[in-house]
Amino acid sequence: MTRVPPAFRYVYLGLFLSGTALALGAGLQVARTSGHGSAPSNVQEAMDQLIDPAADALWASVGTEETVHGSHLHAPRTAAQWLKVAGYAQLLVDGAKRLQTPGLPVGANAHSRLADANTPGIRTAIQIRADIDADPARFRAAAIRLEDASVQALTAARSHNVSGLLDAGAALDAACESCHAAYWYPRTPPLRLPSPEEFATRAYRP
Ligand code: HEC
Repeated sequence: MTRVPPAFRYVYLGLFLSGTALALGAGLQVARTSGHGSAPSNVQEAMDQLIDPAADALWASVGTEETVHGSHLHAPRTAAQWLKVAGYAQLLVDGAKRLQTPGLPVGANAHSRLADANTPGIRTAIQIRADIDADPARFRAAAIRLEDASVQALTAARSHNVSGLLDAGAALDAACESCHAAYWYPRTPPLRLPSPEEFATRAYRP
């Protein structure tokens, strides 16, 4: 199993390529939905409706773009743009708090089809449920890590601090990925290190 689950690539791309109107549109949609709707009723809903779109919009708001003319840092400039970013960070705080609800179901009825279900070895909703129940404090700690990174982003946005927002974006990415690695992604043990001779004769090279 060598394939990286698509969600990882998505999160990774969200951090480094940014500035799309699409992501901003998605963020605005979240802001609207959460204003009138109810809190997500399971982990999957919290990811899809709140955490993922808010994080994408936040990552898209700041970053470096490589162009033929060199690299260009884009970041919020006006008070209104910073306010929008603070809104995304606040949605992330809300989502992180929601994940801390004891016994929050993983998917609807705890058996919904999760993203990347076809990736070999990816954890199912039932396995994730069992892992959370085996040590609820560990899952809560992972959610608190997301909350801390979201508060860091909120503070940076309120003080119009570009480098603080970049740092918070990286902390957010780490918070997402560490929880996903522990609960969702396939658990592949490290491969044996082949000898140089074995590698020369048998290893695949592109
Ligand atoms: C406390 C743990 C935790 C944190 C933190 C977390 N996730 Fe998740 N996430 C999960 C679990 C468990 C799943 C698998 C179950 C599911 O699909 O909902 C998941 C699934 C997802 C999915 C797929 C949802 C689907 O339709 O199945 C996306 C997208 C996602 N996460 C995005 C993010 C992003 C972006 C962040 C960070 C900003 C993040 N997650 C932070 C636990 C977490």
